[in-house]
Amino acid sequence: MRRAPRANPYRDSWAGGLGAASAGSTARVSGWVHNRRDHGGLIFIDLRDRAGIVQLVFHPENGTELFAAAERLRSEYVVSVAGAVVLREEGNVNPDLATGEIEIQAREMTVLAESATPPFAIDTDADLDEMTRLRSRTLDLRRRYMVDALVLRHEIVRTIRETLSDEDFLEVETPILTRSTPEGARDFLVPSRLSPGNFYALPQSPQLFKQLLMVAGYERYFQIARCFRDEDLRADRQPEFTQLDLEMSFVEEDDVIDVNERLMAKVFEVGGLGVPPPPYERMAYEEAMLRFGSDRPDRRFGLQISDVSEHLRDSQFKVFASVVANGGAVRAINAGAREVARKELDELTEVAKRAGAGGLVWAFVQEDGSWRSPIAKFLSQAETAAVTTALGAQRGDLLLAVADTASVAANALGVLRLELADRWRLVPEGRHDVLWVVDFPMFAFNEAEQRWDASHHPFTAPTAPGGNTAQDLAASDGPGAWLSRAYDLVVDGWELGGGSIRNHDPAVQRMIFGAIGMDEEEAQQRFGFLLDALRFGAPPHGGIAFGIDRIVTLLAGRDSIRDVIAFPKTASGSDPLTGAPAPVDARQLRELGLRSAAAPGQ
Ligand code: AMO
Repeated sequence: MRRAPRANPYRDSWAGGLGAASAGSTARVSGWVHNRRDHGGLIFIDLRDRAGIVQLVFHPENGTELFAAAERLRSEYVVSVAGAVVLREEGNVNPDLATGEIEIQAREMTVLAESATPPFAIDTDADLDEMTRLRSRTLDLRRRYMVDALVLRHEIVRTIRETLSDEDFLEVETPILTRSTPEGARDFLVPSRLSPGNFYALPQSPQLFKQLLMVAGYERYFQIARCFRDEDLRADRQPEFTQLDLEMSFVEEDDVIDVNERLMAKVFEVGGLGVPPPPYERMAYEEAMLRFGSDRPDRRFGLQISDVSEHLRDSQFKVFASVVANGGAVRAINAGAREVARKELDELTEVAKRAGAGGLVWAFVQEDGSWRSPIAKFLSQAETAAVTTALGAQRGDLLLAVADTASVAANALGVLRLELADRWRLVPEGRHDVLWVVDFPMFAFNEAEQRWDASHHPFTAPTAPGGNTAQDLAASDGPGAWLSRAYDLVVDGWELGGGSIRNHDPAVQRMIFGAIGMDEEEAQQRFGFLLDALRFGAPPHGGIAFGIDRIVTLLAGRDSIRDVIAFPKTASGSDPLTGAPAPVDARQLRELGLRSAAAPGQ
């Protein structure tokens, strides 16, 4: 804590703020009983406030009533205690505690609140079942583990606000009750009472509002923005989460990247993440997919992927030859010299299959350079040797290959890389890696719907081989040949943020709506407000959004973003603390003009 509390009947000092300099004075502190130890006629209480912990000592000779009251204290009672701050005897100094050089000899105590027995111990950071933690989140939030995470979160947001304010960005709030913004997830809808049958959508991001602010001339905007997406949840996803959202006018990719590198370097410094200073490396999407099998490559360990198709084009092994003949690819990883049992190879094959591959080919390079592999007999010596060389393999190395369409092979080996790194603990302690991924394809073809889907979002500016104007795009080979002017910041295999240069030319914006299967009428109906704004002098603009929850999770070294959110939802989107989502009164539904077709679940 930076500033001493104002003295009042509860306290005049932070419990966790006392130190050797306070010895010889008296102090009054308030807080929670962290734990109690009875020792040889003395009672020791660790008292906890937000600043930390201080040891209180109760002597029977300082008053039998006071001592008896101390005996009745239990974990999590709330007390106010006054006494003398004294240096501990040398042997009793606790170097693990910031206040470990002193203790308070209690003279007076008021019990401000009692506590029922907590369902778990607050005074350890021990792993607990997450449901138990979320159900009793108030108590879980008292644990140092959570306090540290939320303090760090605050420091990060404060760094962001200060840095961007110094860079002339203006924080502007945008609506929560709004219309759908297509970011690729389902919307959360809010029925309107005043306009029955109509719905607001909660924003998946402030994307369109920030673009409107640019058209309105605000030049540099940012917001710590709450976003809502109804999607399948994972350790790195919540249905409501927080973005640092920003947008700038009269900029190109390098301008956005430059200011954000300065910002993120500060954020990493405050969070204690040891990474080299910017500029951060940029890697094209295609290279990331080829070498790492992912558009968010984790480069902290090796196991890079190689394309070995050219060596197997004419193979007697029909799977390889036919995949290559059909435009697919054979890709492989040199997993290094390892004794890997048959059982583990079968497990790895399952991993590859779950990731979409038809199977996994494995081979060990033997003393004489030949392979021990189920497919060895189908390959010529020349093919074996060429692949061995292409993978830089030595005797004893394990090679793993997938033959499929290029994207399936990339994805399966990308998943397999991460699995191997996890199984074999390949990520060196303390190593971190930051890079930008750029040059994404503008669209991915949606086979089921037979149309293009925007890879980032449909407001992203495309680029064709001949240039970026509507004419250049029209003269190109069509949407499949366009790249997007998007960029993602990837740290340790996590996508922390993503953004792009936008379409400020309404004609280009219309072409994109057309490519994703939206006719003029629908485009006007859904996004007329944007298309209209673009007609009134829209500056070139671009921006980015970072996931604050993900940034803090990474900096705090946690596994799940739920650990850096005060009141998160479970993987099924519910809140065990409040019981949300919950049924509502029939009257409320009637007012909204709604009738529920589903019986509320438990
Ligand atoms: P995008 O959809 O890539 O871009 O989101 C930006 C960043 O937000 C974080 N994020 C999430 N964090 C937690 N839970 C989620 N469900 C979740 N979804 C996304 C990620 C991601 O990188 N409007 C664009 C940005 C732009 O173009 O400026 C957008 O929202 O860290």
